[in-house]
Amino acid sequence: MTTQLKSGHTAEPLSDEESARILKDFPGQVDGLVRVQPGGWILPTPYLEIADKIYDFKFHESDVVVMTHPKCGTTWTQEILWNMVHNPNIDSPAAEEAVNGRSPYLDNPMLKQFAELCPGANPADGIEIQRVAAMPGIRIFKTHLTFPLLPPDLLDTTKVVYVGRNPKDMCISYNHHYRISRTLDFQGDMDLFVDYLTNDELLYGPYWDHIKEGWKRRDHPGLYVLFFENLKADPMAEVRELDKFLDTDLTEEQMTKVIEHTSFDKMKARDAFFPMNEEMKKKIMNQEVVQKEGGFFRKGQVGDFKNKLTPAQESKIDAWTKMNAEGMGIEFKYSI
Ligand code: A3P
Repeated sequence: MTTQLKSGHTAEPLSDEESARILKDFPGQVDGLVRVQPGGWILPTPYLEIADKIYDFKFHESDVVVMTHPKCGTTWTQEILWNMVHNPNIDSPAAEEAVNGRSPYLDNPMLKQFAELCPGANPADGIEIQRVAAMPGIRIFKTHLTFPLLPPDLLDTTKVVYVGRNPKDMCISYNHHYRISRTLDFQGDMDLFVDYLTNDELLYGPYWDHIKEGWKRRDHPGLYVLFFENLKADPMAEVRELDKFLDTDLTEEQMTKVIEHTSFDKMKARDAFFPMNEEMKKKIMNQEVVQKEGGFFRKGQVGDFKNKLTPAQESKIDAWTKMNAEGMGIEFKYSI
């Protein structure tokens, strides 16, 4: 059945053949996927329940939206921005809450599953879009949705920080994510995963189109484009730019504190991603993979793909990059 969305897009379930194949390779993905056209965006079926609400969402002038394709540095950026705005002296007790509690994930498709996985959790938390509408003060949002699925005046209304990352490290990180998340539960090897990536069949892709939608708006004053690699190489340079972009007017000392508080080691030690206790974490994350290869905060490095991808897998990603990114003028360090 085709669903017409207010954004002008249509959403269609995948074909029976595709769904069966995907369910075999990703048995945790029981909610199914839809393909949204134009664009071929792959989204979880529960997105359809909130698509129009997100399109109509009333952003405030003071809001900041962190927009990314998954695994490009979303959580790191959310944590930096939230602390710059709400905790520049790193002394706020509110900072103890997990980052996605303080910085809501607008299109979170998981909350229904959370309620099932975590009996006793407050069902009101399952309605992220209502929760955030009532949130006071400057709101720092996360979304994996691409610009065309959000309100068309988004950049004129509010500030957006778009975060990109080189596709090979993103691929390694996404593969890990697809294996630790029980709601995805990828069963195949890296060859198969690279096939899914380069066939643009992974959630929130096509990756290159997601990046393009951000990049082509880079001159808009409402947008700051940030790259994982640059943030890693020189966090102070990026935080200084973000300070100007957000008008936070932080001192050097405050910026230094924020950078320290949001370092990979500190965030990994806190391990506070979604607000959930250890028992919930065990339910939603494959503990075997977590023990062997790390949890959500895996390595946080640039260039780890070199330890993980075979020359043939790299060539496949290179060809896909060439086909999709030629002429864009983006030079990801270590990307090709
Ligand atoms: P790796 O899997 O390569 O370690 P997202 O938040 O978009 O899902 O991205 C997750 C990636 O960002 C993971 O990459 C994670 O480890 C990394 N990350 C999270 N916090 C980080 C930090 N403070 N510094 C560097 N990388 C970080």
